[in-house]
Amino acid sequence: MKVTSGAPDTRVDSVELGRAGESLPVLQPTLGSAMIDVRGLHKGSGRYTFDPGLTNTGVCRSAITYVDGEKGILLYRGYPIDTLVEHCDYLDVAWLLLNGELPTAVQKERFVTDITYHTMVHEQIHVIFRGFRRDAHPMAVMCGVVGALSAFYHEDLDIFDATHRKNATHRLIAKMPTIAAMAHKYALGQPFAYPRNDASYAHNFLHMMFSVPCEKYEPPAAAVRALNAILIVQADHEQNASTFTVRSVGSSRANPYAAIAAGIASLWGPLHGGANEGVLQTLDEIGTVDRIPEILRRAKDKNDPYRLMGFGHRVYKTYDPRAKVLREFCYEVLDAYGKRDDPFLKMAMELERIALEDDYFMERKLYPNVDFYSGIILRTIGFPLPMFTPQFAVARTVGWAAHWNEMVADPEMKIVRPRQLYIGSPERSFVPVGERIGHEPLVG
Ligand code: SDX
Repeated sequence: MKVTSGAPDTRVDSVELGRAGESLPVLQPTLGSAMIDVRGLHKGSGRYTFDPGLTNTGVCRSAITYVDGEKGILLYRGYPIDTLVEHCDYLDVAWLLLNGELPTAVQKERFVTDITYHTMVHEQIHVIFRGFRRDAHPMAVMCGVVGALSAFYHEDLDIFDATHRKNATHRLIAKMPTIAAMAHKYALGQPFAYPRNDASYAHNFLHMMFSVPCEKYEPPAAAVRALNAILIVQADHEQNASTFTVRSVGSSRANPYAAIAAGIASLWGPLHGGANEGVLQTLDEIGTVDRIPEILRRAKDKNDPYRLMGFGHRVYKTYDPRAKVLREFCYEVLDAYGKRDDPFLKMAMELERIALEDDYFMERKLYPNVDFYSGIILRTIGFPLPMFTPQFAVARTVGWAAHWNEMVADPEMKIVRPRQLYIGSPERSFVPVGERIGHEPLVG
């Protein structure tokens, strides 16, 4: 295949397929790498592309988020993430991700009112919780309860009706913290805390998580600020595994509640959103600073599947800009809770220092990612380990919803149906049971 291009650093015009005159168009982005449009490849060459994990493949056009993994840049609709954390609250950013611009004062007021008045869940949802064991992982509960939401909104499931899409989007953003907090309270055996209409999104989430009927509860301002920052930096991240899952499920025209429930399931994985829970498990497992070398040895051992949670990233090959933002909030929260001298944090800082000097990590550009610091902040505020990923799901719901809306409105929307490289048996004749020889089952 020959690439035809202009002068260095200018647009690549076409890629020849090896037959004179046959070429593929190249799509030029606003930012990032140009992409070869391979939709005509099979027609022109009888061949498909092969890209397990889709790490080299663009699956859609999107205007929502841009990540530059080499430079450590993260933009939401063109705004750098640190600027948004400095000047916005989570619902400002939610509006931006959904609608492409920061809200005017009037738009923000209406949006806050709409979200606020959708935070309660139907009382029958309370009954659904009763079906779970008290020790069920809250992510299992969230998958089930969020998927069940579509059973309550039959009248609003036409995905091509813009009002239906808006209603579903607002309901999901509004109810996710309520459902996550209910999963926590259910595990504790405490009564559910109803949302407060006079609290900000982050404040309300903490209220529903930690208040009890017997006394007033007001979270430290530093905790509200830190949770607001975590919610913003976790809100979206291009075509990560869970967002692509939402797009894939939504591409069959499944309803948005089912698509978001699938996103929750994908985020649960320890290599994805489950990593912040993994960070704390790792730190608990290390126990003391002198055990860090052993943990790093395991992480570097090719024969050991162990990974150092909170380090490395499929895209970032430098410091995750979200980790940089959260690092500052981490210290502020620890001070607010009088835990600056927390041995746990000291161990985390030592782990970070050693890893950042280690050849294996440096050669592979493995830096702390968003999960490294979010886990420490959440633990300090009082989130139990199993609630770390549900909190991530709360934050990412607006990103999932923004991509789902962008896909449904995209005239190029097609049902996701990748190809495969078939390596199985060629066609063969049937073998009667009496003539079959034993074989090692693949699954058993
Ligand atoms: C999130 O996609 C997103 O945007 C995700 C996310 C989002 O906002 O949606 O950013 C959220 O999921 C953050 C990532 C959280 N996950 C973890 O912290 C789990 C630990 N990290 C890894 O498992 C890993 O880094 C991944 C899964 C995140 C990325 O995996 P890749 O793409 O396979 O990593 P790589 O190709 O860059 O790895 C290069 C090398 C490999 O070794 P070699 O084959 O070259 O010898 O680095 C090794 C990997 O084995 N490696 C690690 C490691 N991460 C990669 N070795 C030890 N510990 C690690 N954490």
